[in-house]
Amino acid sequence: MEDARTVDYSRTTITELMIPSFANFSGKVHGGILLSLMDKVAYVCASKHSGTYCVTVSVDGVEFKEPVEVGELVSLAASINYVGNSSMIIGIRVESLKPKTGESKHTNSCYFTMVAKNEDGSLCKVPRLILENQQDVRRFYDGKILKKMRRQISNVLDAEVKAISEDDMIESLNEDRCLIGYPN
Ligand SMILES: CC(C)(COP(=O)(O)OP(=O)(O)OC[C@H]1O[C@@H](n2cnc3c(N)ncnc32)[C@H](O)[C@@H]1OP(=O)(O)O)[C@@H](O)C(=O)NCCC(=O)NCCS
Repeated sequence: MEDARTVDYSRTTITELMIPSFANFSGKVHGGILLSLMDKVAYVCASKHSGTYCVTVSVDGVEFKEPVEVGELVSLAASINYVGNSSMIIGIRVESLKPKTGESKHTNSCYFTMVAKNEDGSLCKVPRLILENQQDVRRFYDGKILKKMRRQISNVLDAEVKAISEDDMIESLNEDRCLIGYPN
């Protein structure tokens, strides 16, 4: 396997026409269709960089800023932002274009973490990333922070839940918009 690859080596864009079967009852495209396309482009990008089979491990920052309509052309641009040992963080930018008017909107940006695997399912070390400009460096640094923060959030959640009794937890929800529907 190559020891290092550039960001450009695995940069990938796919464009898909939004057809009527992708729509929900209000005529807008289902979020799940867009998520599936994001997973596809992330997979292509990660498997190009690693040269192996990859699995999706986590998704961060998915926000649907604008609805997508049937008839629009959705383009998903993916590039590797960060690599660890076996994991890769792929940044994805989604844009939707109305072909008749040429009007284009940025609908979503997010991060997919993919892990490279060997044939036997064990973790596979991925090539290092060659950072060729300031943007590559900034994105790699962002990815490193994201990985660290994800670990911290998970540790904080575990610690918070372990540190409080069920009664105190229920008490703390007094002002929130929930009802406790079982005897306590
Ligand atoms: C993700 C998976 C490989 C982690 O395996 P593991 O034995 O716990 O391995 P590790 O804890 O050593 O983690 C391996 C890498 O995944 C990363 N990772 C693990 N959990 C993660 C999470 N929740 N979010 C982001 N990255 C994660 C680790 O940081 C590590 O990265 P690194 O090698 O670059 O340092 C394993 O849980 C798995 O195979 N999950 C199923 C994935 C799948 O099938 N996806 C398809 C969805 S249907």
